[in-house]
Parts: sequence; C-alpha cells; structure tokens
Amino acid sequence: MQFKPLEKVLTISGLDKRYGKIHAVNNLSLEVEQGSVFGILGPNGSGKTTTLGIILGVVNANAGSFSWFHESNSKQNRKRIGAILEQPLFYPYLSAYRNLQIVADIKGISYDDIERVLKTVELWERKDSKFRTYSYGMKQRLAIASALLGNPEVLIFDEPTNGLDPRGIAEIRELIIQIAEQGITIILASHLLDEVQKTCSHVVVLNKGQKLFEGTVNDVLNLSNTIELSSNNLQILELALKEFKNITDIKPEKDRFLITLAEGVTTTDLNTYLISKGVVLSHLTMKKKSLEEQFLELLSEKS
Ligand SMILES: Nc1ncnc2c1ncn2[C@@H]1O[C@H](COP(=O)(O)OP(=O)(O)OP(=O)(O)O)[C@@H](O)[C@H]1O
Ligand SMILES: [Mg+2]
Repeated sequence: MQFKPLEKVLTISGLDKRYGKIHAVNNLSLEVEQGSVFGILGPNGSGKTTTLGIILGVVNANAGSFSWFHESNSKQNRKRIGAILEQPLFYPYLSAYRNLQIVADIKGISYDDIERVLKTVELWERKDSKFRTYSYGMKQRLAIASALLGNPEVLIFDEPTNGLDPRGIAEIRELIIQIAEQGITIILASHLLDEVQKTCSHVVVLNKGQKLFEGTVNDVLNLSNTIELSSNNLQILELALKEFKNITDIKPEKDRFLITLAEGVTTTDLNTYLISKGVVLSHLTMKKKSLEEQFLELLSEKS
C-alpha cells in the first residue's frame, strides 16, 4: 500500500465575525486533517459555536474564508458533513426507528443504513420505543445516529456531553472515539479540558474569538516540562546546572531543584552533561503540566 499524505478536510483562514461590539471570532485560521479528532477548546463565549455556525453555513462571517475538502462550499460537500449541534427535533410520539426513517427521507437515502447506525450507538434493542420515553443520554445517542446516516466523512459536535450524568458522559466520549476509529474526522467544540484531553488528537484553544494555541494534544502536554532532580551534593549540582546553557529556569527547593529545559533538549542531554561534570543524580523525574494548568495559564496571559 502506498503512503498517502494526510488530506486537509477543512481549512479556515482569517475568519472574522462581529455582533455589534462583540468580536465573536477574531481573525481565526486553522486546518483540520483527515482522521483527526479536532477539539475547539475555550471558555463560555469564546466563539466556538459561532465558528461552527460559520463553517456549517448557518452564520455569515464578516471576513475571511473557509473550504471543505479543498473546494468552495457547495451543496455536494454538505452531504459529507454530519452535525450534532443541539437537541435535534425528533417526533416524541414516534419510535426511534420511525424518526430515523424520516431523517433518511429528508437526506434522500435508503432505510438500509438505519440498522447500522442504531447498532453503532447501541440503540438497536430500543428502536421501537417512542422518542419521548428515551433518557437524555439516549436522545443524544439518537442524534449521533441521525448524523451518521448517509456515512458522512466528518462529524461536528458542539458540547456533546452537556447535561449528561457521569455515565452518559463516558458513553458519549467512548462513542466519539469509536466513530473516529472508523476513520471519520471529528470536530468537537467544548469548554471542558478534560473532554478534549480524553477524546481529541488535536486542539485549538480560543479566547474571546482569538486563537491562543493550536497543536496536537500531546504537544500541548509537552509545552512545558519541569524536571525535578537531586544529588547527594547539592552545591556541585547547582554549579553544574548554572553552567548548562540549555536550562531556561532553575528553582531550588529544600533537597532538590526544579528546572525547565530549553525546547528540544532532552533529559538524556542533561544527564550526559551532568555525568561529564562528575555529577551523579540520585533523583530525576519529569513533571508534566496538565493541559488544565496550561489552559488556565494561556487564558491568564491574554486577558
Ligand atoms: N446571534 C448573536 N447575537 C449577538 N451576539 C452573539 C450571537 N451569537 C453569539 N453572540 C456572542 O458572540 C460571542 C461568542 O459566542 P459563542 O456562542 O460562539 O461562544 P461559545 O464559545 O460557543 O460559548 P459557550 O461555551 O457558552 O457555548 C458571545 O459573546 C456571544 O454572546
Ligand atoms: Mg457554544
């Protein structure tokens, strides 16, 4: 099999949206690669839903552009995208199966796909129950099934676990990961770090409509690495650390030092250097900052 470079599913450039004095989306650019689970993370009012509205063609931007699948937005492309934006309108007195038949009619596709999507969201056994008898979590899963009808290549979620209990939250996150494993690209807006950390491969962090950070979730976790180290002779260790140019920060603690290495410098580099100086470490651990700490830092830097 030949290696295929990753395709860009969505490209947004210089997107801007104002509501009067409110700058809801501020010069936003980003790219979503095929197969990724792309998180749009930001506090309430940071412009996530507005951005999703623009790329789905229901909100008009004041400036900037976006393209799906390298093409300007055409009706044909819209069929390749499924969205679960809010509680969708299902008929309360009809069964889940009947409701999906109606959706299939609207989408102009056959009923053959209904069994597959109901099985994916684990509602096949309950297909004949009336929608009004569904729990909140089941309603959310039916919304996902409905979006999956017709095999979209991209699924868009806006706060998919809002209002669910811990079990419902875990189920929906599990389902999103499972859908992503089938090769569907996912774009997910959330104000919950934990959600993005648990489900997404990539993240863009928004605040007041502006992009603060974009990268893989792993990159975000690696943004800043603090290393804790100690030796039997702290004075010699301190001297050696101060001479090492690849350290950006040294904090002495009671019996150890907390240091930050410059970008691209590994603990192996550090250790090799220390050994060359005759320093033997008694302790070395990496302390990764959680996405949460970094998220809060990012927000406080900009506000
Ligand atoms: N139709 C509208 N008219 C006026 N202002 C709007 C409208 N829609 C959004 N806004 C404003 O734009 C800003 C961004 O809102 P948006 O809903 O995109 O944020 P969000 O990140 O989705 O927030 P949340 O986490 O609360 O869902 C907010 O200040 C909001 O009040
Ligand atoms: Mg929103």
